[in-house]
Amino acid sequence: MSVELQNIKNRFGIIGNFPALNRALEKSIQVAPTDISVLVIGESGVGKEFIPKIIHAESKRKHQPYIVVNCGAIPEGTIDSELFGHEKGAFTGATATRKGYFEVADGGTIFLDEVGELPLQTQVRLLRVLESGEFMKVGSSQVQKTNVRIVAATNVNMMKAIHDGRFREDLFYRLNTVQIDMPALRERKGDIHLLFRKFAIDFAEKYRMPELELEPNAVHYIENYAFPGNIRQLRNLVEQMTVVERNRKLTAEKLAEYIPMETHLPMVVNTPNSQKQNDFGSEREIMYKILFDMRNDINDLKSLTSELIKNRGTADLSNQEKNLINRIYTPENQQAVAPNNSMLFFEDKNPAVQTPTIISNSDDHYEDFEDIEIEDDKPESLSLQNNEKDLIIKALEKHKGRRNKAADELGISQRTLYRKIKQYNLEE
Ligand SMILES: Nc1ncnc2c1ncn2[C@@H]1O[C@H](COP(=O)(O)OP(=O)(O)O)[C@@H](O)[C@H]1O
Ligand SMILES: [Mg+2]
Repeated sequence: MSVELQNIKNRFGIIGNFPALNRALEKSIQVAPTDISVLVIGESGVGKEFIPKIIHAESKRKHQPYIVVNCGAIPEGTIDSELFGHEKGAFTGATATRKGYFEVADGGTIFLDEVGELPLQTQVRLLRVLESGEFMKVGSSQVQKTNVRIVAATNVNMMKAIHDGRFREDLFYRLNTVQIDMPALRERKGDIHLLFRKFAIDFAEKYRMPELELEPNAVHYIENYAFPGNIRQLRNLVEQMTVVERNRKLTAEKLAEYIPMETHLPMVVNTPNSQKQNDFGSEREIMYKILFDMRNDINDLKSLTSELIKNRGTADLSNQEKNLINRIYTPENQQAVAPNNSMLFFEDKNPAVQTPTIISNSDDHYEDFEDIEIEDDKPESLSLQNNEKDLIIKALEKHKGRRNKAADELGISQRTLYRKIKQYNLEE
């Protein structure tokens, strides 16, 4: 490892030696001195926020402002004004002219977190300022100039967002001049224990308690856990156990009370084993995440198939392909959780290597294949909607109606949560 990389890790308190993590950090150091836009991609809780900090600190802009904007947390109605400012009288309540972040950060860096959540009208303004450095305050027709470096981050599948018309393709390519991928914690098995020890030390100090330690079977246990909430989840787990656990030597059995191993199996909803109830709050948390992840996976698969069929038609599909697609859309499978009546089972129990297998109860269906219609925004099946609604209600109850906390727990942005609350009429 280069000295420079080690220095960065020390300075920012970054733990881990996994090659993909090192690559991400090295890439950040390399692009820092340029003004190139960077898009950081990775699941929630993987440490994406380190990247813009490193880039800013290692650039010639380091003495200028660094501004973090959480695009998912600002209401749609005010985001343009927050980013670009407004004129006095531009809208009700605009009693004075206000500078936006792009004006304030002139010469510096803006980190656009959860950039996939930006409303379309804001995307237009953002594209313009990225391409020409020009913007206008809301309610003004005077063009202003600014010189801002953008680092953006997302945990959503941008290709899907583009395909669904929620994100502009031109803006995506403009933001994504350089892409930095942050690996999920479950891919970095060797780093899990290191991170555990670092958090154990931090929290022991914070709460003036002896440090937690892991018995060998516990090390094995966390190294094989999927950590849907990644490092943030591990950190919260260690904090919670530091305060609660009397015995400072943790066994696998003890860990299983907090993070039950079986709950991260992808098809957990269908396995008899998982239907037994237990009262661990964390199990519920993980279930939410799994359901959301599963739904995303299914949607991705759905758009992929629909894209393939659209582009290629059905004529040159091999029999095997026809058979496969046909099976997804057989009526027998309509009770499934997935949109478009597809039902997917995962063969492998380890989510890191999950391969979807499409199961059908009948064999030959290609005759009705020509009748298949694929719509892009078909309403999700009822069972999925009910599940989702249920999970949202539970998360809101748990956090006493605090939407930011509930969104965090559900692993979705606040804006998505607001939308869902509206959609399901949960406002009261
Ligand atoms: N490699 C790491 N070493 C130490 N702490 C980390 C590491 N990666 C993430 N964290 C911590 O995990 C938490 C989540 O990181 P964050 O950057 O907010 O995730 P993201 O923005 O990807 O959701 C933060 O408290 C962060 O400090
Ligand atoms: Mg973040």
